[in-house]
Amino acid sequence: MALLTWSNEYSVNIQGFDSQHKKIVDLINELHSAMREARGKDVVGKILNELTSYTVFHFAAEEKIMKEHNYPGYNSQKGEHEKLTKQVVSLVDDYKSGKTVLSQEVLQFLKDWLINHIMGSDKKYSEYLNKKGVV
Ligand SMILES: [Fe+2]
Repeated sequence: MALLTWSNEYSVNIQGFDSQHKKIVDLINELHSAMREARGKDVVGKILNELTSYTVFHFAAEEKIMKEHNYPGYNSQKGEHEKLTKQVVSLVDDYKSGKTVLSQEVLQFLKDWLINHIMGSDKKYSEYLNKKGVV
């Protein structure tokens, strides 16, 4: 069973961002399967690299749209993105250096990390951006 299942309650009402969030859900689920199947460090490392680069891409895409539409929460959301990026980068570094192993706790952390991002900050931009015609 997948670790994370997409639910409509996660929708931010903007199609492009929903599909980017779904891609991050998929990557976290891929990590979960890789852990359960005891896949090697190269496989896990590759997924972690993809998670990092996709996250950076996703945050930049959100920031671009927020900025274009003068979203009032832009600065705080940008700060939140920086914090979340640091968290995932340090997790990947710790994994690569052998300081941490991919565990249930790490996956739970990533799951919370993503859900808190969507539910805690992204949900706030939905109404504002929808009104600006971003759907
Ligand atoms: Fe997001």
